[in-house]
Amino acid sequence: MHVLVTGGAGYIGSHTVVQLKAAGHEVVVVDDFSNAKSTVVPRLEALTGGRLEVHAFDLTDRDKVEALFAEHKFDAVIHFAGRKAVGESVEVPLEYYQTNLDSTFALVRAMQRHGCFRLVFSSSATVYGESATPPFTEDLPTSATNPYGWTKVMIEQVLRDVARTDDRWRIALLRYFNPVGAHASGTIGEDPAGIPNNLMPYIAQVAVGKLEKLSVFGDDYDTPDGTALRDYIHVEDLAAGHLAALTKLGSTDEVVSTWNLGTGHGTSVLEVLRAFEQACGHELPHEVVGRRPGDVAASYADASRAERELGWKATRTIEDMCVDQWRWQRDNPLGYPD
Ligand code: NAD
Ligand code: UD1
Repeated sequence: MHVLVTGGAGYIGSHTVVQLKAAGHEVVVVDDFSNAKSTVVPRLEALTGGRLEVHAFDLTDRDKVEALFAEHKFDAVIHFAGRKAVGESVEVPLEYYQTNLDSTFALVRAMQRHGCFRLVFSSSATVYGESATPPFTEDLPTSATNPYGWTKVMIEQVLRDVARTDDRWRIALLRYFNPVGAHASGTIGEDPAGIPNNLMPYIAQVAVGKLEKLSVFGDDYDTPDGTALRDYIHVEDLAAGHLAALTKLGSTDEVVSTWNLGTGHGTSVLEVLRAFEQACGHELPHEVVGRRPGDVAASYADASRAERELGWKATRTIEDMCVDQWRWQRDNPLGYPD
């Protein structure tokens, strides 16, 4: 298939591009590099053994999106592009609503106009809000606790409404749990700007000596070791889930399908820390501090629908995730070069 990947220079997009090319798809990337470095592109080309067509523009620019669709005949779109920092979304909500919604509007309009009806959208487990009890099933009501999360809830709704207008649409809403890890080559991975907010990149930077110690946010949760449980999923398993969803959209009769992409298993903060210590071969300094506001005790998927309907299942363990995250961090202590 001829596939447009928006946000294809980013963390999850880049890993998905590699798998798409390996599966024989023709790939075009749009990314404005607002949260990616251009040096990812030659690395992707090295991994895929060919030139990658990349268009550097902001997807909210309707004319540019339209021109791209006029130039190419896409069979499908995987839409990763968007802003994703929860804390920042609270500070600049309008930027989040505008970028995430407008880019989706521009894309979906162009898809409609050019007869491209297959769309895979990056949603998030954040749409389960604060009140649900895990494991989360796809039919739970959705809500959010911050503007970033609301953009996902809203875009899901927009896409459900659009799908109802034309039965040629085939849309996958993929709700990711906690993507971590990196490609086994150690040449692509997550490269957060500034101090990481998320656990795995934070631990990795402690391991490489960039940060002094991990703060464990709370050890008084009602969980086996008192620290919070999350469903960490290897980014390679996640990327494979996109290929499975893309294939399924070719045969399903549903106009909109929602699939959780997780392992179905919760891992505690201290378990992640121990697994990372094993991977990097030394102890990592840490201290327990208070809970982070807004955190829930446990979040993990009921991953059975994806397994049943997509024939997809995450296979990599937390140990695999830490080994691959560590290789990427060790080989690229400063992330991608400028
Ligand atoms: P990322 O920031 O690494 O990738 C997003 C890419 O989109 C970046 O390369 C960025 O430069 C690009 N981009 C942003 N705004 C754009 C615009 N207006 N026009 C063109 N390009 C634009 O993030 P990621 O971790 O790879 O996440 C990909 C998607 O998955 C996002 O939609 C995110 O919300 C969603 N998601 C991520 C996580 C996670 O923990 N990483 C969890 C759930 C959902
Ligand atoms: C974060 C996002 C969420 C997103 C999810 C997907 C926030 C507030 N939420 O959630 O919207 O869908 O990623 O990847 O950013 N922890 C520490 N010390 C740290 C960092 C984290 O103890 O320095 C703990 C957290 O309290 C949490 C766990 O580690 O219990 C995982 O945290 P994180 O990686 O930020 O993911 P989420 O909280 O699940």
